[in-house]
Amino acid sequence: MMTQIRMSEYLVDRPAREIWQTTHDPVPELTDGQVAARIDYVSIDPGMTMWITDKRSYMPPVRPGDVMRAFGVAEIIESRSDNFAVGDWVTGFLGVQSHGVFNEREVRKIPVDLAAPELFLSGLGMTGYTAYFGMMDIGRPEAEETVVVSAASGAVGSIAAQLAKKAGARVIGIAGGANKCRYLTETLGLDAAIDYKSEDVGARLDALVPNHIDIYYDNVGGPILDAALTRMRYRGRIVVCGAVSQYENMAAAQGPKNYMEIVTQSIKMQGFTMRDYMHRVPEAIQVLAAGLGDGSLVCRQHVLDGLESLADGLEMLLSGANQGKLLIRVAHEEGHS
Ligand SMILES: NC(=O)c1ccc[n+]([C@@H]2O[C@H](COP(=O)([O-])OP(=O)(O)OC[C@H]3O[C@@H](n4cnc5c(N)ncnc54)[C@H](OP(=O)(O)O)[C@@H]3O)[C@@H](O)[C@H]2O)c1
Repeated sequence: MMTQIRMSEYLVDRPAREIWQTTHDPVPELTDGQVAARIDYVSIDPGMTMWITDKRSYMPPVRPGDVMRAFGVAEIIESRSDNFAVGDWVTGFLGVQSHGVFNEREVRKIPVDLAAPELFLSGLGMTGYTAYFGMMDIGRPEAEETVVVSAASGAVGSIAAQLAKKAGARVIGIAGGANKCRYLTETLGLDAAIDYKSEDVGARLDALVPNHIDIYYDNVGGPILDAALTRMRYRGRIVVCGAVSQYENMAAAQGPKNYMEIVTQSIKMQGFTMRDYMHRVPEAIQVLAAGLGDGSLVCRQHVLDGLESLADGLEMLLSGANQGKLLIRVAHEEGHS
């Protein structure tokens, strides 16, 4: 049997936790070219909040009644594909479910001899690739430059900040709370941290970066983006990775008030998603695996147990209760195998 979390309807004006429905069904018979997989870890991402509304985004929304879309890692338990054998580990959009049947083109093998499977959802997965391409291809930090990263203790932000530090930049992280700020300076080795929940971000930036910001890696949008905009150097770069401060109510999302700074200071502000970079994933894996292997990159994971923790997990991402890359570990009695 497989346990699946389905989205019953689009999120309109009710709490997100009310739209999930748990179902149990037998694993379907395979046809040629298909594999069946037992899913061990599911990734919870802020981007999921965009997939549950019927709005244009970087990929189509989940359809009401469908299993919720999510990245996962899984072991193949049955195969009618020449390209996958029982025991292979794979990743892809495997869904919030205990088991799934996939066409061979929907999954990609992961080298679990290199690292634990769940790392392919965090430091060696889309999270790590997003940090790598956003910082190193769009931001392009150079030695002596000043880089500011928001949501810096989170999954993407922590890796982006460390990559800028490895490039020789001076890096300031913004995060919520004293514990997360201590993590930034003491564990990740950033030059300074700003606690946006208890400090005035603008005043702290003025004190820490009197000569202006070269690169702002933006994960949050909202007032923090506005504070950064007025402190960018002439021809500075802003990497727009996400805007998590706006995800709770995307219908009323606020754009930056200080956007004229982009004109007056000739700022380059660029968004991206991983669809721009899928052809370069091996390059990211090489750099990230080397850093995680030699300890020069640190990646922490926050693991919740059970598929039904999806609702809690999404709330945690928006409140900041997660400490690192948020994952669900699937309890296999959920799927009876
Ligand atoms: N462009 C892409 O392809 C791509 C891919 C993956 C992720 N992303 C984006 O990257 C960002 C980070 O995602 P992640 O997966 O790494 O999540 P994460 O940073 O591990 O978790 C989200 C964090 O956002 C912070 N946050 C929440 N509400 C906030 C607010 N109002 N103001 C400031 N900070 C707030 C919280 O940290 P604090 O405790 O510090 O508040 C929370 O822990 C998101 O915007 C996401 O959409 C983009």
